[in-house]
Amino acid sequence: MTTLVLGARGMLGRALARQLPAALAWDREELDLTDAPAVRAAIGPGTDVVYNAAADTRVDLCESDPAHLLVNDEAVGTLASRCREAGALLVHVSTDYVFDGKGTRPYREDDPVSPVNAYGRGKLAGERRALASGAEVLVVRTSWLFGVGGPSFPDTILKLAASGRGELRVVDDQRGRPTFASDLARALRLLVARGARGLVHFANAGETTWFGLAREVLARGGFPDVSVVPVATDEFPRPAPRPAFSVLDTSRYERLAGEAPRPHLDALDDYLAERAGREPA
Ligand SMILES: NC(=O)c1ccc[n+]([C@@H]2O[C@H](COP(=O)([O-])OP(=O)(O)OC[C@H]3O[C@@H](n4cnc5c(N)ncnc54)[C@H](OP(=O)(O)O)[C@@H]3O)[C@@H](O)[C@H]2O)c1
Repeated sequence: MTTLVLGARGMLGRALARQLPAALAWDREELDLTDAPAVRAAIGPGTDVVYNAAADTRVDLCESDPAHLLVNDEAVGTLASRCREAGALLVHVSTDYVFDGKGTRPYREDDPVSPVNAYGRGKLAGERRALASGAEVLVVRTSWLFGVGGPSFPDTILKLAASGRGELRVVDDQRGRPTFASDLARALRLLVARGARGLVHFANAGETTWFGLAREVLARGGFPDVSVVPVATDEFPRPAPRPAFSVLDTSRYERLAGEAPRPHLDALDDYLAERAGREPA
C-alpha cells in the first residue's frame, strides 16, 4: 500500500516527508492538484493514505486573486472523491482563519465558523468538501505555522535582524498558538495511527501575540539586542484582515492522541537548530 504526501516542498510537506520516509512525496511538479485527471490517475486502489499539505497560503494575495480557490477549495473535492473511490484515507489540513477572532476562549472544533478573509473562506469551503465527500477523512486545523522550507514569521524576523535593523515594530493585538511544522507532521501521523476521523485542532501549547513571538525568536535566535516595539494591527494595514483571537482548543487532539502538544517555545528551539543546520537538542 502506498502513502502519498502532496505539497511536499512546502513547510508542512517537508516535515511530513521526513516523518514518513516510505511515502511518495510529491510537489506541484509531480502532481498539480488543480489537474483533476492527473489527481484521479495518481490515486488508485493501492493508495492507503493521502496527506494533503498543498495549499495556496498567500493570505493577502487571496483577497484579489480567486486562483487560490482552485487548490484550497475545488481540488480538495476532487482529491476527496478520488480517495473515496480508491478506499484511501484523506488527511487534509485547514486553518484557524476559519474563525472570525471575536471569541474569548480557545476555539473548539464545533464552534461556529465565520472567516474574515478570502483565504479563510476558501479553506473553509475545502474542509467542508472533504468532510462531506463520504471518504474516510481527517481534517486537522492548525495555526501560525513555522518551519524550514517556507516563508514563516520567525524566518522573516531573523532575516530583518540579520540585515542590521536595530528595532522592529510588531503587532501585539492578535493572539494565537504558534505551531512547528515538524510537530504537526508528527501529530498527523499519530492521529492516523489512532484511527482518528473528522475534524481535529492541533497547535503547539502556549498562546502569544506576534510581538511576543518576535521577542522570543530574537532572544533565542542570537539577536538579544534588537528591540521590538508592540504596535496595533491598524498600524500595518494589509489587504486581508486577520482574526484578532485565533487560539485553538486542542482537547480533542489530546484525547485522541493520548498526549498534549509541547510548548511552542521548546519547538521554536528545535526550529532554530534546524534552521542553523544543527541537530535539535
Ligand atoms: N502557514 C501557516 O501559517 C498556516 C496556518 C494554518 C494552516 N495552514 C495550513 O497548513 C497547510 C500547510 O501549509 P504550509 O505553510 O506548509 O504551506 P506552504 O509552505 O505554502 O506550502 C504549500 C505547498 O503547496 C504547494 N502547492 C500549491 N499549489 C499547488 C497545486 N496546485 N498542486 C500541488 N501543490 C501545490 C506549494 O508549491 P509551490 O511552492 O509550487 O507553490 C507548496 O509546496 C495548508 O493547508 C495551510 O492552509 C498554514
